[in-house]
Amino acid sequence: MAHPDLDGPDAGAPDTACPTPGPWAFGNPTRVVFGIDSLARLPELVRGRSTVIVTFPEARSIGLTERLKALLGPTLLEIITDTQANPDVAELARLHDDFHARHAACALLVAVGGGSVIDTAKALAVTAPREPDADAPGHFAHLAKHLAIGTVFAPARAIPLIAVPTTAGTGSEVTGWATVWDRQAGRKYSLALAETWPEAALIDPTLALTLPVGPTLSSGLDALSHALESIWNANHNPVSDALAVSAAQQVMAVLPPLMKDTGNLSLRTGMSQAAVMAGLAFSNTRTALAHSISYPMTLEHGLPHGLACSFSLPLVLELAIGASPSRDRVLETIFGAPLASAPERLRAFIEGLGLSTRFSDHGVGPEAQRRMIADALQGVRGLNFLGRRKP
Ligand SMILES: [Fe+2]
Repeated sequence: MAHPDLDGPDAGAPDTACPTPGPWAFGNPTRVVFGIDSLARLPELVRGRSTVIVTFPEARSIGLTERLKALLGPTLLEIITDTQANPDVAELARLHDDFHARHAACALLVAVGGGSVIDTAKALAVTAPREPDADAPGHFAHLAKHLAIGTVFAPARAIPLIAVPTTAGTGSEVTGWATVWDRQAGRKYSLALAETWPEAALIDPTLALTLPVGPTLSSGLDALSHALESIWNANHNPVSDALAVSAAQQVMAVLPPLMKDTGNLSLRTGMSQAAVMAGLAFSNTRTALAHSISYPMTLEHGLPHGLACSFSLPLVLELAIGASPSRDRVLETIFGAPLASAPERLRAFIEGLGLSTRFSDHGVGPEAQRRMIADALQGVRGLNFLGRRKP
């Protein structure tokens, strides 16, 4: 499906089998340590530093906090468990100020959880410089001001972070971004600093073995969305493409059987590997239109992130096909050629997992859908879609 707004630099590029590559760069400062039972390697990564762990409330009842205490021993200062899904500035302010007031000696944060926990830890890891009207050290209000206007700042304090994901999909363990919500203002912010990249991602697929079906689906589809969004993206490069193709193929092979056999360690391992590859891909490209559409779907319609950023993938694929020969070639390696039937096959794949791909089924009527897509194309992520903004 052609779209009048899609006329980026890739459009009309020569369709040769071996195009001359343009200049590109790929980098990621996070060391990835992957393996079954690799949680046991946490002390090796912590290296005796005074550590605060940030995790999810249920970590106590499933015995995870006891395991972490036993692993880190006296280097562990505290385990913070009162985190919330989709962290909001109001809640983060309390957590952030309390953490910095009590833990001046903390030399390392370890986030053990899904994307929300890792993003919470990233927000705890930095403080903004005090402004003249400051009334308390490390006051979150200063950080919130930067979040609201999207400025990059040199942190007054920056604590290194190790991310240990317990889901497979968010990719937050290998990116420098934290999504922070302001429900009162109806806005979504992105914390993005050099200091918020994890120094290491420790990925142990056994940690996802007890993940319920709902978060397994949501995080798995988030990974698929990250892979595809890095392909139809102005910032694509050969390395991100290679990672994204592998990741997308693996999610599409592994997620359906995993949904029927959530305790299968081999399938969990496949999903964890696909998720980190997708994360590495979009760590260099950022996301695009499907994620831009997802933010109002989460904020206004309460759809979990992974579902909100994937239900529209067939529609976005329709828009992407034919807009760029180089992108079509990469998409063909996932969906096969010709691409004409690919959106229908992707729709069948997603609906086969129980997620409707229709806006109306998520409470969005035709006029609201049209407006939402138009707004999303103008959003920061929407402008990444197919080179609508130069890298
Ligand atoms: Fe995402």
